Amino acid sequence: MKQGSGLVKIRGWCYRQRSSNKFIFIVLRDSTDIIQCVVSKDKVNEKTWKDADKVRIEFSLEIEGTIKEDKRAPTGYEIDVSKLHIVAPSETFPITKDKSTEFLLDVRHLWLRSRQMTDIMKVRSAVLEACNEFFKKEGYYETAPPIITGSSCEGGSTQFEIKYFDEKAYLSQSAQLYLEALIFSLEKVWALTPSFRAEPSRTQRHLAEYWHCEMEAAWMGFEGLQKFEEEMISFICQYAAKNAGGQLSALGRKPADLKKVKPPFPRLSYDEALKELAKKGHKVKWGEDLRTEEERLLTEKLTKPLIVTQYPKAIKAFYMKEDPKNAKLVLCNDVLAPEGFGEIIGGSERETDNAKLIKRLKEAGESTKDYQWYLDLRKYGSVPHSGFGLGIERVVRWLCKLESIRDAIPFPRTIARKYP
Ligand code: 4AD
Ligand code: MG
Repeated sequence: MKQGSGLVKIRGWCYRQRSSNKFIFIVLRDSTDIIQCVVSKDKVNEKTWKDADKVRIEFSLEIEGTIKEDKRAPTGYEIDVSKLHIVAPSETFPITKDKSTEFLLDVRHLWLRSRQMTDIMKVRSAVLEACNEFFKKEGYYETAPPIITGSSCEGGSTQFEIKYFDEKAYLSQSAQLYLEALIFSLEKVWALTPSFRAEPSRTQRHLAEYWHCEMEAAWMGFEGLQKFEEEMISFICQYAAKNAGGQLSALGRKPADLKKVKPPFPRLSYDEALKELAKKGHKVKWGEDLRTEEERLLTEKLTKPLIVTQYPKAIKAFYMKEDPKNAKLVLCNDVLAPEGFGEIIGGSERETDNAKLIKRLKEAGESTKDYQWYLDLRKYGSVPHSGFGLGIERVVRWLCKLESIRDAIPFPRTIARKYP
């Protein structure tokens, strides 16, 4: 919708309509915004007046008229209609005020037209753009890892198994192992792929299908990894504040607050995190993972993300490098979004010692046969390297202050839902 002064021609959908004897007000919606269009009985021909009178919510329309500034109009401008063409009528739109969350999920294909979902999808688009720009700026190659895989990256319990001709295969949980193979030629790589997790629980932050932004870099150590994560998250926040500020404000997130998300971020080791939690009267036994509740307690008062490092080896994935100072820990980190939104990034330096990798694969009950190709990577000129995965919907949920992660993706997939 081009706004200025003068003659305009616009296309869109009726957002609301109201009529009186002399005027018909049609608020038109397109991808950019909404605008009020006024049809005056004494200024248009009879057919135009009659057509305008038929218009109801979600009719698709083409309108011609004169645009002018009007402080009373919902978006500050108004169109004085001269021509109106109904492109297609609409049956009575099923979405009215005060519909339940479940109903809105059932009609998600239509609910996507709401201003709220439109704002969220625009923030999401800005986040994806930011990831692209950031990796380009840092000299990373975008790559194409497979979605159908023969081995597990994050443990068999959340893998979707598929029939693959006469064999079994799995939907990817993470591109990491393949990105590790690619660093031996490209050194700095990234990929945006769908990842799949057969999460049996209904939570506000788990999807069965989500978009995973992952990077891997040769020669990068644990400290360098954390710096990179801070820089990237800060870049995403600055970018979204600049390019989707209006949408963020409408969703209740102040862009100015996102602009303050700059490195360094606070950091705690897992051990220190347990001490922090104990101070808050919340005891966690050493060796247990931090759950949603613990992540909330650690971050609810923060304005920047928190990096939690060096978790116990026993609760983390096989590929994470053992901490040289303490063999019970690994050089991993989770980045937790502030205000209790929880984990948005999981990363680590990678183990390069094949004996250790084989031992941990066996402990995890995996067959090393499926990982021969991965173990090969350590045989031919192994290098120190690190990488991480960022959940796009987790970031969008945080930036848009969404109660549920389901609203951060157009068509959410959860244990309870694959329709529409
Ligand atoms: O912590 P995760 O499981 O780590 C990995 O998959 C690593 N292999 C990534 C890597 O190092 N390349 O997942 C990474 C991120 C999480 O921090 C979270 O943001 C997101 O992926 N994530 C999910 N998002 C939505 N729904 C789920 N079920 C998710 N599981 C993980
Ligand atoms: Mg994780």
